[in-house]
Amino acid sequence: MGLEFISNPSLSKRTSLRLGGTAEVEVVVRDKQDLDALSNFLLKETLRPFVIGEGSNLLAQDGQLDVALIRTETPPGPERVEKNDDTLIVRCGAGQRLPGLLGWAQMAGLSGLEGLTGIPGSVGGCVAMNAGSYGTEIGDLVTRVRLWAPGQGLIWLDRDQCEFSYRHFSPAIAMGKCLIWEVEMALSEADPKKVRKTMQENYEKKKSTQPVTARTAGCVFKNPEGHSAGRLLDKVGMKGARLGDMLFSDIHANFLVNKGKGTSSAALELIEMGRIAVKEQFDVNLELEVIIL
Ligand code: EPU
Repeated sequence: MGLEFISNPSLSKRTSLRLGGTAEVEVVVRDKQDLDALSNFLLKETLRPFVIGEGSNLLAQDGQLDVALIRTETPPGPERVEKNDDTLIVRCGAGQRLPGLLGWAQMAGLSGLEGLTGIPGSVGGCVAMNAGSYGTEIGDLVTRVRLWAPGQGLIWLDRDQCEFSYRHFSPAIAMGKCLIWEVEMALSEADPKKVRKTMQENYEKKKSTQPVTARTAGCVFKNPEGHSAGRLLDKVGMKGARLGDMLFSDIHANFLVNKGKGTSSAALELIEMGRIAVKEQFDVNLELEVIIL
């Protein structure tokens, strides 16, 4: 089919926080054959490329942004590629949604991903930021990552060529700006009913402590060493703090919620208010987890 180009894509329609103006263009990559054309596009283009994934960890600013969104809809879906004893290596395209991968793993009776229940991003996006919850970080499961960079093509990196830390992934070898094409993970065989039960329990737990069905971008700030950003924001009175339709969730203070007509400028102002209050009262610097585009 070839690359698809969409002019002036709406960022509010592509982000879970439902904020932002438009990018200049969105380029949709569907298979390996499209990568040469993507390389040519990126070499000629002066716009800043930005790999968007599911837009679930993103605060997009208002107005027209000088950005070319890159979206990969990379097949194949999750598939088993290798079995060693009761460990199964599963391969999954970066453009697949993490909840879809979890649903597949549950049906297939594969354990390992249960802690990540309730995270809405793409598989590539979750690896790019080493998403985690309930003691599991996706990087713990990754055995190989296939990256693509213009001029370098597709390269498999083994686990020891990857650096994963708290909400961070980078290749441990020199590579320019790259995108994640596909990922392999080690899961273990288990009873599908048990996997399902743990996923359901985690979802219930998450629903009672986080605004999982609201328009949010997940946690706004990273947890500083030895602290919970949510607890600090709560203690300084930010829970429920509101500017127009944007507010810090009254369920969990580290989530910004868009009640419908929220704006990026209100979101950014709330972020500054939270950051300053925590610095003043606790002398702790909060660092953003959400990406500002
Ligand atoms: N707390 C408050 N008030 C609040 C929020 C939290 O007092 O408004 C307290 C809780 O009662 C608890 C402590 O703070 O005692 C920690 O809260 P929670 O268990 O909700 O975990 P968290 O540290 O706030 C982290 C991750 C979440 C992940 C959960 C569960 C970060 C920034 N957050 O939250 O990840 O889902 O643990 O494992 O690392 C994300 O990365 O976007 C995210 C949501």
